[in-house]
Amino acid sequence: MFALVVSFGAYAQEASEQAEVSQKGVVPGAAEGAAQAASTGGLPVDDAAIVEAGDALFKNNCAVCHSAGSDVIVGPGLQGVNQRRSQEWLHSWIRNSQALIQSGDADAIAVYNEYNKQAMPSFNFTDAEITSILTYIEASASAAAVPATVGSDVAQAPGEGVGSDAIGAVGGYLDIVLVVLILVLIVLVVTLLLITSVLKNYLNTNRKLNEYDNEVVNQRFDFSKIYKSKAVRTLVVLIFVVVLLDLTWDTAMGIGIQEGYQPKQPIAFSHKLHAGEHQIDCNYCHTTVYKSKSASIPSANICMNCHSQIKKESPEIQKIYKAIERGQPIEWVRIHNLPDLSYFNHSQHTQVGGIECQTCHGPIQEMDVVYQYSPLTMGWCIDCHRETPLNTEGNGYYDKLVELHESSSKGAFTVSSNGGTECSKCHY
Ligand code: HEC
Ligand code: HEC
Ligand code: HEC
Ligand code: HEC
Ligand code: HEC
Ligand code: HEC
Repeated sequence: MFALVVSFGAYAQEASEQAEVSQKGVVPGAAEGAAQAASTGGLPVDDAAIVEAGDALFKNNCAVCHSAGSDVIVGPGLQGVNQRRSQEWLHSWIRNSQALIQSGDADAIAVYNEYNKQAMPSFNFTDAEITSILTYIEASASAAAVPATVGSDVAQAPGEGVGSDAIGAVGGYLDIVLVVLILVLIVLVVTLLLITSVLKNYLNTNRKLNEYDNEVVNQRFDFSKIYKSKAVRTLVVLIFVVVLLDLTWDTAMGIGIQEGYQPKQPIAFSHKLHAGEHQIDCNYCHTTVYKSKSASIPSANICMNCHSQIKKESPEIQKIYKAIERGQPIEWVRIHNLPDLSYFNHSQHTQVGGIECQTCHGPIQEMDVVYQYSPLTMGWCIDCHRETPLNTEGNGYYDKLVELHESSSKGAFTVSSNGGTECSKCHY
């Protein structure tokens, strides 16, 4: 339970910084906002920053159970909720719906009963945050009428997919070319066989052959001759040796490399469902990925934020309950694992470097079962460090270094020009 509060708390804090900034921007506009009050419940729907902050909060905290339209997911669709309820009511409901129900509020009791008395979780949000969520709900109701503005951020989500699609397309072409080539070969062989048999017939019927010619024309195909031929034997041995060498070479070079490694996990947890369809932020579960070296694997408590309500009866979810009852963590099988001699830090890459998870982990949001997408070899790390320019913008730490680099060199200021290929950076 403590983890539950902490994780929502951490989320709320990040987003509140965003929301507070935009909230300040809104005060001067309050007067004109009043004109819209009748239709929008007095919410600042024109302030893009507030709507955006609300959007993020909604997606991370509410979208698993609510749509901003009229569809029922777990709870009711929230379209029109600002007209249905007062702002004051909504704020107390979102902070603690159970308290509102217990206070005897008729609307609260009615909606609670209507949805089979499923308790909605409490959210420790500030007023500004709740306002931003409600504003987002209001704005998406009006945006639904102007489809051009809807879903622009949804479209970005699978962005990294492009590269792999292109590779897939090339692979597809190669397959087709190969099949065509094989077909052409078969046709050639058949034609050749036909031609020989026609020729043979012609010679046998229309020419008087001497004994020697007759033998040659009508000779049987003798496999043992091929088998006994020295040239053929040497060739076969040679091919065999080359294949063997190639295999041992690959295995030797591949020791410790587990690209594509996809173990079976103890619970059928799907990233495609959670991170893809339900758009739960990676950071919601991998809570330390922007802050520390390790990304962390979520504890069962994080699952319970939602699964204390959702799909309780599913046998897969029951496994989470059992793990908690036993007081033991779920034993996920580790997929990515660098040897101890190397040092890799997530926050350096995600927070400072601004690199997307998908660049290294592939299209996780499309994987039912996670597999290792990149080779994680030293060569892989170094290639990227050679090619990738540093994300220096707005990072005061780099100002002096950029100046220094520009005065001494013409090339891009890459990770490696900042020492990112020095052995000691990655080896203890
Ligand atoms: C785990 C599921 C769940 C999550 C997460 C959730 N809700 Fe709910 N919500 C419900 C359910 C279920 C109801 C219906 C009332 C009940 O059973 O308590 C509800 C009701 C509501 C209502 C009342 C609707 C009405 O018509 O009166 C509002 C408003 C609301 N939720 C807002 C939110 C907001 C905002 C968030 C995110 C900060 C959120 N909810 C997150 C499950 C959830
Ligand atoms: C609802 C929680 C949740 C969300 C959201 C989530 N993950 Fe995960 N992730 C897990 C769990 C649980 C595991 C361990 C089980 C597994 O490997 O499937 C995991 C495993 C992983 C692994 C493999 C770890 C290993 O063992 O090496 C990677 C990589 C990963 N997640 C990346 C992501 C990325 C990228 C996103 C966002 C697009 C994301 N996750 C969103 C819960 C989540
Ligand atoms: C933010 C909310 C949220 C969190 C956190 C979350 N889930 Fe889910 N999970 C869902 C939703 C929504 C579904 C889809 C339910 C449906 O299909 O009706 C789901 C479905 C599932 C299913 C499929 C159940 C079935 O039988 O269809 C499994 C298994 C599952 N989750 C495991 C986990 C595990 C393990 C964790 C913790 C690492 C976790 N979930 C965390 C929201 C969440
Ligand atoms: C620059 C490449 C890179 C990026 C970007 C990256 N990862 Fe990783 N990730 C790795 C490597 C390498 C490992 C293996 C680390 C190890 O074994 O010490 C790893 C391991 C993990 C693990 C397993 C647990 C752990 O910390 O070892 C999870 C979960 C994970 N990453 C999630 C994420 C998420 C979520 C993001 C985006 C927010 C992300 N990663 C971005 C390279 C990356
Ligand atoms: C997709 C590109 C990419 C890959 C792959 C990648 N890195 Fe990086 N790495 C970066 C970038 C960009 C930075 C610079 C971040 C910053 O400080 O601005 C960086 C910085 C670092 C630093 C700090 C360097 C310094 O000068 O302080 C270390 C250490 C590091 N990476 C280790 C690794 C290791 C180990 C791997 C492989 C397991 C790896 N990286 C894979 C892009 C990558
Ligand atoms: C950007 C990070 C990075 C830098 C810079 C780097 N390495 Fe590595 N190195 C790794 C990683 C990650 C591994 C483990 C992956 C593997 O075994 O391929 C590794 C593995 C090794 C290994 C063990 C190979 C094996 O097969 O077990 C040696 C030895 C090594 N590095 C030496 C060096 C030397 C010497 C330098 C400097 C010239 C250097 N490394 C620079 C990341 C780095």
